[in-house]
Amino acid sequence: MTDQVGHARGILAEASPVLVLTGAGISADSGVPTFRGEGGLWREFRAEELATPDAFARDPRLVWEWYEWRRRTVAGCEPNAAHLALAGWQAAGADVRIATQNVDGLHGMAARLTGITDGGRLLELHGTLFGARCTACARRAESPDPIDTGNGAGLPRCGGPEGCGGLLRPDVVWFGEPLDPDVIGTAFAWAEAAAACLVVGTSGIVQPAAGLAEVTRERGAAVIEINPESTPITRIATLSIRGGAADTVPRLIPRAVS
Ligand code: OAD
Repeated sequence: MTDQVGHARGILAEASPVLVLTGAGISADSGVPTFRGEGGLWREFRAEELATPDAFARDPRLVWEWYEWRRRTVAGCEPNAAHLALAGWQAAGADVRIATQNVDGLHGMAARLTGITDGGRLLELHGTLFGARCTACARRAESPDPIDTGNGAGLPRCGGPEGCGGLLRPDVVWFGEPLDPDVIGTAFAWAEAAAACLVVGTSGIVQPAAGLAEVTRERGAAVIEINPESTPITRIATLSIRGGAADTVPRLIPRAVS
């Protein structure tokens, strides 16, 4: 593995720009549960059963309860060495662009801790746990905190002087919904331009995000995967390192950035 880490670091030192695609596994070392694998279920539910427009239409209280639980969990978590190493690499001047499937905000927090003020090199493909939007008029709002999920009457509504009173929903992308076209368009432009793609902690089975690594690979650029387990991305990866994110990612970052 040490050789592989050195090889990967050598590739990344020569590559610019670099696209970093991350999934729940990068936050696992911060204590955020992943969706699949051990600890992936909330009660008896899989993400695919709750993160859908149908599930929300059927039982908005249950879906809000799940998101409230996730928000509470994440609120007690901090960026780990992998988030911080990536942000530090950006702060050192490297052209590194991060596209994350995570809604936990930990990449953004790492950027702020590292002194990065411009959010232009981070895309949150699936939205954020900390936002809400109206199901009737689509107006965006901060997610009220806390949300009373005890019964349907306490669920958040579109409020304020311009509010329409419609039911708010989490401002995230659910299964069966399109991603924001500007966000995914930028992500694919980054994948086209990337001289290497570093894929950290994703099962690689949710599209279109997983397709970003494929686009980079099809263009002949290197794909480096960090994951304790093999995934569909392993098949296309130039190099697949079996390891945890917090332990491995900091060792991949080239020391000198020109
Ligand atoms: P998953 O839960 O599907 O996969 C997490 C991946 O992280 C797995 O491949 C694990 O092997 C790996 N992993 C676990 N611990 C790790 C560690 N310490 N370091 C590195 N990797 C580790 O999460 P995602 O791939 O992010 O979408 O899931 C993709 C999307 O499906 C999510 O954004 C979410 C989900 O349902 C929606 O809700 C729309």
